[in-house]
Amino acid sequence: TGYFTYDSGFTATASCKSAITYIDGDAGVLMYRGYPIEQLAEQSSFLEVAYLLMNGELPTKAQFDRFEHQVTHHTMMHEAQKHFLQGFRHDAHPMAMLCGMIGSLAAFYHDSLDMDDPEQRELAAIRLLAKVPTIAAAAYRHSIGWPIRYPRNNLEYVTRFLHMLFEVPAEPLELKPVAAKAMDLLFILHADHEQNASTSTVRLVGSTGANPYACVAAGIAALWGPAHGGANEAVLKMLEEIGTPDQVGKAVEKAKDRNSGFRLMGFGHRVYKNFDPRAKIIREMCHKVLSELGIDDPLLEVAMRLEEAALKDEYFIQRKLYPNVDFYSGIIYKALGIPTEMFTVMFALARTAGWVSHWLEQQVDPEAKIGRPRQIYTGATSRDYVPMAQRG
Ligand code: CMC
Repeated sequence: TGYFTYDSGFTATASCKSAITYIDGDAGVLMYRGYPIEQLAEQSSFLEVAYLLMNGELPTKAQFDRFEHQVTHHTMMHEAQKHFLQGFRHDAHPMAMLCGMIGSLAAFYHDSLDMDDPEQRELAAIRLLAKVPTIAAAAYRHSIGWPIRYPRNNLEYVTRFLHMLFEVPAEPLELKPVAAKAMDLLFILHADHEQNASTSTVRLVGSTGANPYACVAAGIAALWGPAHGGANEAVLKMLEEIGTPDQVGKAVEKAKDRNSGFRLMGFGHRVYKNFDPRAKIIREMCHKVLSELGIDDPLLEVAMRLEEAALKDEYFIQRKLYPNVDFYSGIIYKALGIPTEMFTVMFALARTAGWVSHWLEQQVDPEAKIGRPRQIYTGATSRDYVPMAQRG
């Protein structure tokens, strides 16, 4: 006993079999259900991608209409959940609110907790996809002291979310088409990424038979950290701290110094040792959004200089550190008027599609077992208890 393969951070361990997402980190390839991310980004929509991830195939028109109808008709938040929201301090981080509120869904929807019933499983997955935007927008509005806005179900998924975030009574919200397009694209790109920390968390919790609301709440908690989903928020803070393009060189030097404790946020990836294919797509959209919205953001200049400096620096080349998906996403969200502390919430909203897909896949996997890693024990060897009075 005690002789296990030591794999800190699971860099060489496949924890499950999955048919959802394929990544080739060396080649910079990402596919959902076999479809290259570039084609989905160009031609699909987030809701269609969510269907694809959950069901394995692109929907026919009739299948999509049914799916959209189902998602649309579960968008309302239970009125009693508003009391939950009121209980949070106004300055609570929206990720804390999201995590608590999503976990609480299990207390509201007892009709979707039987994991052995495929209809109940589907209902729970649909509910999560439908309610996360409503809850995310409500958390944001609570933080700024605005009344929550009910979902307008005559709008499509992303536009509806933008309305819930920004609409005020008696003042029509004027959205430029590029805003919904950019957000939809970011949601597609963030929708799944195989066994990242949060998805693995969802599966680990799911392996115990816990309900899907609890599983997704756990995923949200895992996503919050700056090494994972919190990176987009950290990128923007970093760019603001660097401030001007002439400070970029200093930041790069600091990131190379191990003792500084500073890393270039939005750089590097556990799996991609090449350009993150999502970063390439986002980079293009970032320029488009800023130009179509007429925004001259000096942080974009800092970001571009930083990217350029890091890509030709020996330290980053040697370690195969390239910009990842979050290097540009924060600049787009900022341009859309999303406050920085909401960035990770945006990621959570998109990744819910992936989380529920993995959870659904796991529930019917005949080989799935409770996740129970072992450890290499490094503590004291056997010794006798010493009564307190005799301890030095
Ligand atoms: N800046 C400077 N040095 C870095 C960076 C960075 N961003 N990332 C890695 N390194 C160095 C690291 O110090 C180490 O150097 P050495 O070999 O001399 O010890 C080497 O590169 C390998 O790093 P690692 O920490 O062993 O790599 P990892 O696979 O464990 O970590 C990572 C991957 C994403 C956590 C890391 O690259 C990082 O902290 N990046 C910044 C945070 C970030 O952008 N995270 C978002 C990831 S993408 C979105 C998502 O999926 O959530």
